[in-house]
This record gives sequence, structure tokens and C-alpha cells, in this order.
Amino acid sequence: MIDFVFQNPAKIIFGRNALSQLGSEALRYGTRVLLVYGGGSVKRSGLFDQVMAALQAQNITVWELGGIVPNPRLSRVYEGIEICRREQVTLVLALGGGSAIDTAKGIANGVPYDGDVWDFYSAKATPKAVLPLGTILTIPAAGSEMSYSSVITNENGMLKRGYNSVTNVPAFSIMNPEWTFTLPPYQTACGCVDIMAHMMERYFTRVPHVELTDRLITAGIKTVLNNAPKVMAKPDDYDARAELMWTGALAHNTLLHTGRIGDWGSHKVEHELSASFDIAHGAGLAIVFPAWMRHATAQYPEKLAQFAMEVLDVPQSTGNQTDIALEGIRRLEAFYRSLGMPTRLRDIGLENADFEALANRALPNDEATVGEYIKLHRSDFVAIYQLAR
Ligand code: NZQ
Ligand code: ZN
Repeated sequence: MIDFVFQNPAKIIFGRNALSQLGSEALRYGTRVLLVYGGGSVKRSGLFDQVMAALQAQNITVWELGGIVPNPRLSRVYEGIEICRREQVTLVLALGGGSAIDTAKGIANGVPYDGDVWDFYSAKATPKAVLPLGTILTIPAAGSEMSYSSVITNENGMLKRGYNSVTNVPAFSIMNPEWTFTLPPYQTACGCVDIMAHMMERYFTRVPHVELTDRLITAGIKTVLNNAPKVMAKPDDYDARAELMWTGALAHNTLLHTGRIGDWGSHKVEHELSASFDIAHGAGLAIVFPAWMRHATAQYPEKLAQFAMEVLDVPQSTGNQTDIALEGIRRLEAFYRSLGMPTRLRDIGLENADFEALANRALPNDEATVGEYIKLHRSDFVAIYQLAR
């Protein structure tokens, strides 16, 4: 186990009555709120009206930034920063999923910063201050409700980039599993794939003696494996939705990262797909992650074999480490398919995409790499896309 600092200051308010605490929680930061939300699901479900009523009951004034799209865009972050500065907003409140939350994070970090907020996403600067930030989560997926990350797409070049900072951890996140009953099956499935991916990125480490976090990750992924089919069969299964919602937050709040070095190569390979083709991040991961696993098995099968046995119950009698790892990947893909997820680029019509171009966008030159369990060069990106065809 390697040295670590664990700090996650997010306050979590979870359960059926969670929204009753929104007003008092928001009021702790002042009476001027920017509400950031998506394309309309919260209006259709009635949650938007409930949120407005809770804020107005505390005499809080609300400015709105709606219509945030999946794979959220930088221009909306700029718009939000402008509103906050002009109206002296005291709290940026996201209502929705990772896209609304990541936009709110960009805004909250951008307001006190003199330069261009894109500096944070392009690793030119790190934030020193942040406007208070809260979230009301409607989809377990990105884990942004507790994560250190914000991921934004710059329309100028369609560059999808993220950065990590403690300033991105929301001051509070409010979660009621009932709000996820309205999720379409496809979005539910995308969320489950992403939650699993956040744990898998951490599982695949070369750091030895990380038994506790290995076991916590195994428990987290098994919780998704067990509850995803339940919510697909019965969307209003509160208990199964609750398991997924809490797993989604813990998957990415850095607890599972303690004492180890995660990989994150699959996320980088996927982000090029969702940036270029505007596909859902979870669907992209269902295609990319098994291909990355096959690529990694060829180089270093040990942890993949362990994953296959501990998480997917592949028997040791299956064969050598490579045989066991490959059987694990087959089982993982079968699970994704059972949720209706694509597992190949051809499933979404991208088998002939320009893989070289995608690789070149991710990595500036032949020497640059991403990933830790295995180092990915440009040629590895192309190999993974080819494996995913
Ligand atoms: O826009 P609306 O109308 O709200 O519809 C959304 C959207 O179409 C819909 N939805 C959300 N909650 C719903 C609902 N529909 C019905 N009922 C509900 N309760 O679901 C769709 C997807 O929403 P989005 O916010 O895009 O989903 P997600 O949470 O998966 O976020 C994806 C974004 O997060 C980034 C991804 O790359 C992607 O841009 N990520 C952010 C991370 C982070 N900040 O830590 C980490 C992740 O790895 C990821 O990269
Ligand atoms: Zn993700």
C-alpha cells in the first residue's frame, strides 16, 4: 500500500426525505442561487418545481441555467460564470447528473479565477478558490456528486478534458433514489457501466498489498451486478435504486483509491469517442473497457485474472491466468449486453471511425502515454479501438 491523504468534505443527505433539507442547507451559503440543470427531465418529473418551492420558501432568489446537454459544453460554463459575477450568486446548485454537476463545478471554480476557466481543464492552472457548490442528483453514474473531477467539452476542437481538484468536491449533495425511477433503461444501464468502470479503473493497479480496497471494490461491483437487473425489471424498486445510488457515489469519492494507483486509461480512450461522436459516456465504456482489458491481458494478466475470479466468479480451473482473465471479460460483456449496452463499435456504427485521428487528439506525440496499469501510447489507443470493432 502506498502513502495517501484521504479527504472528502462532501456532506451527503440521502433518502426519501432528503429534499426537505435543501432549503436550510442552501441558506447556509446565502440567498442567491444559480440553478444548473439539463434538458428537461427534471421539469417532466416535477422535481424542478419541488426544488424551486424549497428554495423560495427560504426567500432564496434563483437564477437558472437550463438545457445543459450530456457531454456538457464549455460555452455554458462561461455563461454561468457571467451570471454568477453579475448577480453576486452565493451558491451554484446543480440539479441532474454528471453533465449538470460538471458544468456547475466549472462555474464555481471559474468565478473567483481571473483567467480563462479552460486553463484548469488544459492543465495550465489549478484553482485556488471556489464558490460554494451543491448538487441534487438524479442519476447514479458519473459519481460527480462526491468526486474531485469535472469533465467539460470545449466546442473549439471538441476537446473533452477533465481535471481533479478538492475544490470540485461539492459542499453538499442531496440524493433521493425515488428521483431515479424515471430514468430510461438505457440511461440506467449507462450509469451502471460507469459506476463499475470507476471501480475497475482503481482495481487494475500494480500496487501490491491493497487487500482492503480490492475487497471494497469487489463488494461495490457485485452490488451493481446484483441490483442493475432488479431496476431494469422494476424501475421503481426503491431498495435496488438506493443501492446503486450510494454505490455510484462511493465508487468515485476517492475512498477506493486510497493506498493504490488507479489506471484510467479506459476513460481516456472513451472520452475521445464521446467527444467526437457525442455518445453516452457509459455506452462508450461498455465498448472500450473490455477491449482495454483484452489489450492489458496480453501484457500483464495477473490483476485481470484476479478480477475474473473475485468479481465475476470465474473458477480457477478455467486454465492459466490469461484463460481466466479472458473468461472474465466474456462474462463482463455478457452482463453489459444483458443491460442492453453496446459492446462493440459496430453496435453503434463506428467500426470504421478514424482511430488514428482519435489517438492523435488524446496524445500530443508518440512519446506521451496515459494509463498506469499499462502505459498507453498512440499505437495502443488504435489497437484498443481495433479490438473494440
Ligand atoms: O438532460 P436531462 O433532460 O436531465 O436528461 C438526462 C440526460 O439525457 C437524463 N436523466 C438524468 N436523470 C434523469 C434523466 N432522465 C430521466 N430521469 C432522471 N432522473 O440522463 C441523461 C444523461 O445525463 P448526464 O448528466 O449526462 O449523465 P451522467 O451522470 O452519466 O453524466 C455524464 C457526464 O459526466 C462525465 C461524462 O464524461 C459525461 O460528460 N463524467 C464525469 C465524471 C466526474 N465529474 O467525476 C466522471 C465520469 O467518469 C465521467 O467522465
Ligand atoms: Zn466515468
